[in-house]
Amino acid sequence: MSILVTGGAGYIGSHTVVELLNINEDVIIIDNFSNSKPDVLECIRKITGKDFKFYEIDYLDKKSLEKVFEENENIESVINFAGYKAVGESVQKPIEYYMNNISGALVLLDTMKKYGVKKFVFSSSATVYGEPERIPLTEDCKTGGTTNPYGTTKLYIEQILKDLYKSDNTWDIAILRYFNPVGAHESGLIGEEPQGIPNNLMPYVARVAAGTLKELSVFGNDYNTSDGTGVRDYIHVVDLAKGHIKALEKLNREKQGLFIYNLGTGVGYSVLDMVKAFEKSTGRKVPYKIAPRRDGDIATCYSNPKKAKEELGWEAVKNLEDMCKDSWKFIENKRNLTQEPEKIQEHNVERGT
Ligand code: UD1
Repeated sequence: MSILVTGGAGYIGSHTVVELLNINEDVIIIDNFSNSKPDVLECIRKITGKDFKFYEIDYLDKKSLEKVFEENENIESVINFAGYKAVGESVQKPIEYYMNNISGALVLLDTMKKYGVKKFVFSSSATVYGEPERIPLTEDCKTGGTTNPYGTTKLYIEQILKDLYKSDNTWDIAILRYFNPVGAHESGLIGEEPQGIPNNLMPYVARVAAGTLKELSVFGNDYNTSDGTGVRDYIHVVDLAKGHIKALEKLNREKQGLFIYNLGTGVGYSVLDMVKAFEKSTGRKVPYKIAPRRDGDIATCYSNPKKAKEELGWEAVKNLEDMCKDSWKFIENKRNLTQEPEKIQEHNVERGT
């Protein structure tokens, strides 16, 4: 039996493929490299010593997608990582985001239905909680009030999946709400490669440490938190990837159901905690300045991960040091490979998402 992974060359997708291959699952990847590079596939082979089938297609292209299902009658489940994910860009390009994320998910689900494949794991996000009803967030907290089209696509797809399950309860669906994924594979071969200047904290910090960006802007130090800076639940991407394996196991075990899980550590760290941890783990300086708050940001967001522990037998095991060390190893590895001269960029902070 095979597992189809859409967006399998991307950041979280590639780490999940590694974990699937490590337990000898048969994997088929589709990706159109819209936000990833073909060499990731070679890195996955190198890390695992295993092979997989790959199709370079867009999941919106129904004909090509159907061909994948026709050529691989043994597809039993699908993990969907395909989708755009840049919050700021989604505000500028709402049509593209709704089209790619929502239409893509619909085309995929429709094709699965046609071929009788009804096990589905969906990459959702803690962003669906909007302004948190309470902290720590549990899966039954209210959702909605997303502040950008990216977040709204996650919310809508969750609703589509709930409606689908209601219409036909022979589907098995796991919705996984990620908190803040960071880090990279311990090999240093795969990790997060944002195009252009990163918006998320960890890739930005790593580039400041590497000297390619001048300094970090800490967005606000007047929040109601321990040191005034924003608090988040950072989770190592390898822990996150393992959460998908556990969710698939649950779907295979339970037969029929729609399940929602937070994938986080349950611990919140501030921006300054992250800066200090990064400096300590890597021995590099991360110069920073305090800047105004970023529009749309909230003070504190972290999970209660108890449900995933109890029902999936999953919990995050990697700590902040692992997250920082592995991010750094990936950046250093990339720099050694590309031999890029260090260019220090000034970055005018773009406010508002
Ligand atoms: C963001 C998205 C979320 C998405 C997640 C992916 C919003 C509102 N949410 O979460 O939908 O799933 O990324 O990981 O955009 N910070 C700085 N300086 C920087 C960058 C960030 O101080 O240069 C601070 C932020 O204010 C925040 C924390 O670092 O307090 C984390 O920010 P970030 O990594 O962008 O993630 P989120 O905003 O939590």
